[in-house]
Amino acid sequence: MIRRVISRAHSNIALIKYWGKRSGEGNLPATPSISLGLRELTTETEIQKQTSGKDKIIINNTAASGESYKNLVRYLDYCRETGLISGPLRITSNNNFPTQAGLASSASGYAALATALSGFSEKKLSLTKLSHLARKGSGSAARSITGGLSAFPTGNNPAARLLLAPEKIPWGMVVVVVDSQSKAISSREGMEHSRLTSPYYKNWIKQADADYKSMLKAINTEDFTAIGELSEANALAMHCCMIASRPSLIYWNNTTVDIINSVKGWRKDGLEVYFTIDAGPNVILMGNKEDLAKIAQRAERVKGVTTVIPSIPGGQAEILLRE
Ligand code: PMV
Repeated sequence: MIRRVISRAHSNIALIKYWGKRSGEGNLPATPSISLGLRELTTETEIQKQTSGKDKIIINNTAASGESYKNLVRYLDYCRETGLISGPLRITSNNNFPTQAGLASSASGYAALATALSGFSEKKLSLTKLSHLARKGSGSAARSITGGLSAFPTGNNPAARLLLAPEKIPWGMVVVVVDSQSKAISSREGMEHSRLTSPYYKNWIKQADADYKSMLKAINTEDFTAIGELSEANALAMHCCMIASRPSLIYWNNTTVDIINSVKGWRKDGLEVYFTIDAGPNVILMGNKEDLAKIAQRAERVKGVTTVIPSIPGGQAEILLRE
């Protein structure tokens, strides 16, 4: 019998964003999305079977409590009901980057958790099944299972699929951290608030569909300029929808806007770089692999930037130990 599993998953950043859920259980996205897995941003999760007691969950050296503990136990209960695991567990999970600050820590977190849980099963789960399982924890986690450039469609029971393996992608990202505090409004709450109150929500859904199709084409033709331009436009459309929510949902701060303007300036100077922004103030820059160091240097000099993390594409979630 398996008693201990350790897994690792990479975070991913969407080029075409998932923002809004369809009705139904298990995080059914209202928009199709496409993302890049990041090799340098990882979650490692260890699960040990316990003989008795309650589940113990330690995230970044702190015991989970309150809502976050309840949500995780609900997820574990679901896995117990389906027979994937049995009995209480001790779970230790660590991110090597800021948690809940718009850097997709829930993506790598739930992808690592689902992968580690699957390690207790006698049968190896397919990537599609694992992606379904990760999605039930957090929508974006479905894409951290497959890594590289992954597409995550809408539908009744969607899973992510790999579009392009990491070694075939000639560009990467620089994560620009301007604030590493946890955000006040989670993506889960924020997207529901937008769905219910933003006058632009319907248009956002329509635009996201069109952007998804265009992005698939741009990836197919390996057109980095189109990939970058579409990523910026899609992120700004999502933020317009958020900002127009009532009351408004503004995840940006002044440094976020300064970076957007700096990127435009660097591009005019001949450096091919684009930005995208998740549900937080941090900005993620995209550039060709050979330009990543230069982009990181420039970003570091913007006032208000605390850390920059350059990263090449990362691969799928994996089991590191099973005993
Ligand atoms: O999976 P969640 O609930 O963390 O939502 C992800 C939302 C965004 O990061 C803003 C967009 C995305 O597609 O990752």
